[in-house]
Amino acid sequence: MSKIMAVRIPILARVIFALLGALWAALMRLGWQLPPLPVPLATQHGALMISGFLGTLVCLERAVALQKKWAYAAPLLSGLGGVALLMGLPPEIGRSLITLGSIGLVLIFAFIYRVHPSIDVITMTLGSVMWVTGNLLWLLGPSIVYAVPWWAGFLILTIAGERIELSRVLMLKPRSRTIFTIAVAIFSIGLVLSLAVFEAGLKLSGLGLSLLGLWLLRYDIARHTIKKTGLTRYIAACLLPGYVWLIVGGALWIVYGGNVFAGLTYDALLHTLFLGFVFSMIFGHAPIIVPAVMPIDITYHWRFYIPLVLLQASLVVRIFADLMLNQPLRMWAGLFNVLAILIFLGNLIWSARRRK
Ligand code: HEM
Repeated sequence: MSKIMAVRIPILARVIFALLGALWAALMRLGWQLPPLPVPLATQHGALMISGFLGTLVCLERAVALQKKWAYAAPLLSGLGGVALLMGLPPEIGRSLITLGSIGLVLIFAFIYRVHPSIDVITMTLGSVMWVTGNLLWLLGPSIVYAVPWWAGFLILTIAGERIELSRVLMLKPRSRTIFTIAVAIFSIGLVLSLAVFEAGLKLSGLGLSLLGLWLLRYDIARHTIKKTGLTRYIAACLLPGYVWLIVGGALWIVYGGNVFAGLTYDALLHTLFLGFVFSMIFGHAPIIVPAVMPIDITYHWRFYIPLVLLQASLVVRIFADLMLNQPLRMWAGLFNVLAILIFLGNLIWSARRRK
């Protein structure tokens, strides 16, 4: 095994463990009675999903692209932070390691920005700064509730930046760039405002999110590539519902943002974005990202649509259950959300072929 793979494989192993731990914790949070674990995992669900799993994956992807050894410190630190949470070590250890990892990601983007100062890199850099801010609020603040909107910002801006990076063929016109910049600015100003006036800030951010969703729906190449076939069409079929979820999530932030801190309505506020937008994007991008970080190719198969349809359908039911305050229905719909993710993972493994 090459030296570089010897670094990447343990990081990827941590990413997978963080995801599995987060899913287990999600089922506990839904109210399913699972065999007790020696560690109190349920409270770590959000942090494991956002930082242990996705944050570490984003750091790894960027470290691979940068091709600098020092850059691997970022995924190593946030991956270790995820392990610390999984092992039930004192929370400050995991939180500090993840915060250090997120600072590493800002440094990676600062480096990329010097070479390539473009709108996509600026957007992703802003996303990484939001991750650091959320982590500092989580480490030092009174409640995780204040960190979550910043974590959402991290994932949403990272994905939006990646879409622009991939859609560059469309050559954004000045007008569309301006609308994009306005949407991101409204969202970001809302987050900063939330530090002083939580409710007003989140409502303003919600407006930015819905605008960003509309922008992606209008300008992303997915609207054209949905007419193609095979993998290209599948990716577009993941992205388009994701953008609709972003618009819906933004609307929920406008209505309920800052008024709810737990329970079913709060669940809808978070998971329209985290499952609807973020996971739809992951389903779509995984066949491109996995071969970029591992020496394997993913062969497209129509069965990729099975978890996609399951995720979308079960999420519609979950958000309906949330808004109707129907806990038993949410439990079942959430279980199917988890199944959709597990089938998606199984599909990826089944379709992976070692690259010569
Ligand atoms: C796979 C299906 C998922 C299920 C079944 C699930 C379930 C839950 C539940 C029941 C809650 C508590 C909500 C309440 O207060 O009642 C929660 C909170 C949360 N979830 Fe999820 N979730 C899932 C996926 C995700 C994903 C993919 C992310 C992020 C990418 C995420 C991030 C969060 C965050 C940040 C919180 C709030 C912080 C916390 O309490 O840990 N969830 N989730």
